[in-house]
Formats: sequence, C-alpha cells, structure tokens
Amino acid sequence: MHWKYKAFIQNLVASLPEQLALSVYYPIQRRFGGLRRIDPTKRLQAAIETWDRIVATGRNPKGGVFFEVGTGRMVSVPIAYWLMGAKKTITVDLNRYLKHELILESLDYIRTNRSQMEQLFAERLIPDRFDFLCELAEAHPSIDTILTSFQVEYASPADAAHTHLASDSIDYHTSYTVLEHIPPQVLADILSEAQRITKPHGLIVHGVDYTDHFSHNDSTIDAINFLQFTTREWDRLAGNRFMYMNRLRHSDYLRTFNKSGLEIVADDPQIDPSLVAKVQQGDAPLAAEFKDRPADDLAATFAWIVASPAQALAKCG
Ligand SMILES: C[S@@+](CC[C@H](N)C(=O)[O-])C[C@H]1O[C@@H](n2cnc3c(N)ncnc32)[C@H](O)[C@@H]1O
Repeated sequence: MHWKYKAFIQNLVASLPEQLALSVYYPIQRRFGGLRRIDPTKRLQAAIETWDRIVATGRNPKGGVFFEVGTGRMVSVPIAYWLMGAKKTITVDLNRYLKHELILESLDYIRTNRSQMEQLFAERLIPDRFDFLCELAEAHPSIDTILTSFQVEYASPADAAHTHLASDSIDYHTSYTVLEHIPPQVLADILSEAQRITKPHGLIVHGVDYTDHFSHNDSTIDAINFLQFTTREWDRLAGNRFMYMNRLRHSDYLRTFNKSGLEIVADDPQIDPSLVAKVQQGDAPLAAEFKDRPADDLAATFAWIVASPAQALAKCG
C-alpha cells in the first residue's frame, strides 16, 4: 500500500475518541497489518542481542532485574530474558496495548518450534525454564498466570519518564524499536529517569530503528524518505499516535544520552552505503533541517546504543 494511504487511514482512526480509536485500529492490524501471523522470533532475537551486549561489557545478566520501555502487544522480550536467566522484568507502556490472544499465539509458536528456539538461544537457554514454558503454553494460561510465571511486572498506563521506582533499583534498562517513537523532550526525560533508576554498575541498552517505518511496507520509497519533509509537514502527514516517528538521527541520540547523564559504552550504527551515495550525489530530497548533516548520520538505519549511568562512581560514593 502506498505510504500516504496508510498514513491517511492512521490519521483518520487516530482522530476518533481514544478508546474507539484503539478498538478500531487493532482489528485492522490483525486483519491487514503486522499482526496477521504471530512469529515472536524477531523480538526474541532482539532480547538475545541485548543480553549479548551486556555480556560483552563483562557483566553477567543472569539473576538481573530488567526494565523494558514500551511493552507493546506481547511480552516476548521479557519472556526471552527469563528463559536466559533474568530474575524479573519490569515492563511499562504508556498505552495498555497488551493482548492475551497474541501472547498465547506467541507462546504456541515457541512451543511448536522447539528446535528453532534451541538453535536461536543456544547455550543461553535454561532447559528447565524452557520445558516449563512449553508445558504452560499447552494449558492456555490466563494473562495473570503468564505474567507471574515468567516474572513479568507489567505497568500500564505508565510513563517510562516517571516510573516511581526507587533509585538504583534495576540492573538493565532496555528497549527495542521504541525510542524512535518518542518525542525528543520525553526521550530526554526517559533517559534521565534511566540514569536515576539503574544501579551504578548496571547498563542501559536500546535498539533504535532510524528508518522511515512506512518504507517497511512500501517498496516505492527508501528508508530516509521522511527526511524530505519539514517537521511541520511531517507532523501533518503522519504525526498520529499510531505512527509517530521523531526522525532523530544517530548523533541526536548520542547527544541526548550524554545530556541525560549517561556515558556511551558502545554504539554500532548500521549505515546503508546506497543511502550514503544517494545523499552525497544529491539524489535524496532533504528538508532544510537535514541538509547540512553528514551523509553517514542521515543514512544510519539502525543502532544498538549501550550506556552506563555515568555517575556510577559518584553513586558508589
Ligand atoms: C512501536 S511500539 C513497540 C512495542 C514493542 N517494543 C515491540 O517491539 O513490539 C512503541 C511502544 O512504546 C510505548 N510508549 C511510547 N511512549 C512511552 C513512554 N513514555 N513510556 C512507556 N511506553 C511508551 C507505546 O505505547 C508503544 O506501545
């Protein structure tokens, strides 16, 4: 579908009263969108990548308390953390999007694709926990049983910028494909809150998708199509609750992390060489606010950003 039609439909649904908008949008996503067939592999993989990035810094995430910003529809990421040995995951979402039927389908996918899961998790998988999950999935458990069994504390509506958690109470502050949907000022507040609630030797790990998400389903546009519009034009075209994208580039994130008191430990932006060439040759239309940016910064499509609470030493006293 052409991205402008999709944006138009989303704007239309988003203009309805909130509860009506949510109850209209879900069946659309389920029938025509990304929720047609549930395959949690991508999110399990994201949890594994988060885990490995923690391990790469010399920390042992086993037994750790994880915090997830932006739960979404399912709890695949917290379940993956638990399968690898997390103590618990506190997951918060501004919107109560969680859907029981989708979680059951994702559990069923895990149960019926045993060997794929064993390969995916490899030596990280705790066999007893995996067996328990497979048994539980067969019993079609209630949502409360699922959350309790996998040590998931779900809070929604809840704002990751104001968690009410005690200072230094979590080990790992994480998200996957969430930060790009957060307005810049709220992003800064979420990262300051991360700095406050993460233990001195904890870690902050976020996977951010910098692409124009409309390009995922419309092959006629590239991943930086949205950079041709001014902020005002873009807000008018697609500034709805279902598809808001802040369009911040990699360097903006690094700056915001630093300003929020975090110290970058690792970042590995994936840069698309074909987009770099397009920008350098002047073949990518760019709004004035993006014109003077380095091509690499504009052409970064994804990054894992790993940071530590920079005041770790101060926190230790
Ligand atoms: C694109 S969804 C991603 C959900 C999930 N991580 C996934 O991969 O499916 C972004 C989620 O972030 C949530 N969100 C946005 N702002 C938030 C905030 N300030 N605090 C907590 N959650 C927030 C939205 O409600 C939405 O569910």
